[in-house]
Amino acid sequence: MPDSTQATSQATKPKTRSQRRGPQAKPQREPQAEPHTDLLAWRAEFPILQRKTYLNSCSLGPLSLRSMAALERFEELWNEHGAQAWYRIWMGELAALREKFARLIGAQPHEIAIAPSVSAALSEIASGLDLGARNKVVMADMDFPTLSYQWLARERQGIEVAFVESEDKISLPAERFRAQIDKRTGLVATSRVFYLSGYIQDVAKLAKMAHAKGALLLVDDYQGTGQIPLDVKAAGIDLLVTGTLKWLMGGQGVAFIYVREGLIPQLQPTHTGWWASRDQFQFKTREFAYRDDAQRLEAGTPPMPSIYIASAALDIILDIGVDRIRERTRFLADDLARKALARGWKLHSPLDGAMRSSIVMLEMERPDELVSALTERGIIVDFRPGLLRISPSFYNTVEETDQILSALDELLAQRA
Ligand SMILES: Cc1ncc(COP(=O)(O)O)c(C=O)c1O
Repeated sequence: MPDSTQATSQATKPKTRSQRRGPQAKPQREPQAEPHTDLLAWRAEFPILQRKTYLNSCSLGPLSLRSMAALERFEELWNEHGAQAWYRIWMGELAALREKFARLIGAQPHEIAIAPSVSAALSEIASGLDLGARNKVVMADMDFPTLSYQWLARERQGIEVAFVESEDKISLPAERFRAQIDKRTGLVATSRVFYLSGYIQDVAKLAKMAHAKGALLLVDDYQGTGQIPLDVKAAGIDLLVTGTLKWLMGGQGVAFIYVREGLIPQLQPTHTGWWASRDQFQFKTREFAYRDDAQRLEAGTPPMPSIYIASAALDIILDIGVDRIRERTRFLADDLARKALARGWKLHSPLDGAMRSSIVMLEMERPDELVSALTERGIIVDFRPGLLRISPSFYNTVEETDQILSALDELLAQRA
């Protein structure tokens, strides 16, 4: 069950004691039995796991044998058919990818567009969404910068950006948005999972709050898709952007836009091209009409090698199911957080695993040096200023998360 859609029903249920106390106050739950160990059979699918201890899914997911085979298939088709492959095969591959992504988030294929990056996807939306007199865009101070840049770059055109502040720079209860969403707000644009702390926002609640004031909700789901289940319809999301680089394991070059069906006609991007045209293959230079579906947000020729890689990776995610991925990563992240806290280390992520995704941030001095030293030991993680970022996925083991903890014990002891 998606954490964010659970929130839909939470709105009507009385709050539990832990909910009233907030995300930071709830103690770690007792250790559970390790779930879905059958998923470890997938380890053979990812060559990097045979070479490294890979705990960096929130940065770049691992490459699978399936994706490698798909890329080879693409090359063979290019050799076999040349440009004919466009009409015979590749248009169909693009449609299949839109359909797979739609299935993953509970949408319909005609509500999906493909973009080359999340930044480009956001630019498509920002250039196409006329907010009119409702020129205020509300977002969180913890959102990934590419989200705010879209609207900060439009301040010259009269857009006003308002930031909702997180007190601890870890969590941000949805209620804090309420004061900022007013009659002038046209759009609330924020992430489901914060890249800086792994906190999961209650997007269903945000959608209700935005809609109550006549505003739309746009979700940057790059850190959520593929690790935390989502049903865009149940959550009431109007627009969503995400990409395949991270938890979807599909590499660079493919991002997605979801536009709620009823909103599609309102989107008329000036950042556009012939792929947005209703008459794409009529080549009418003097006339332009948008397509009726969300593909009006596509602009030009997509990168087919990336499409093949991403599509094969999406098959793996759909085969496994995001519910199972979440159950397993929740266990691994809880275990890691509990053991880090037991060592006296400071967590820069929610203590309550229900509100934390599988992004575990540890406050550490000079984390860049730690990342280099860990890399020498074959352990791949990441850092942000003052923070070490560890992000296990379904294919990781407790032995691997224990390995990084022991390596950090040694490295920190050398510093003392
Ligand atoms: C939450 C979030 N949004 C957006 C981006 C940027 O995506 P892109 O490089 O595809 O524009 C990232 C990249 O790390 C991210 O974590």
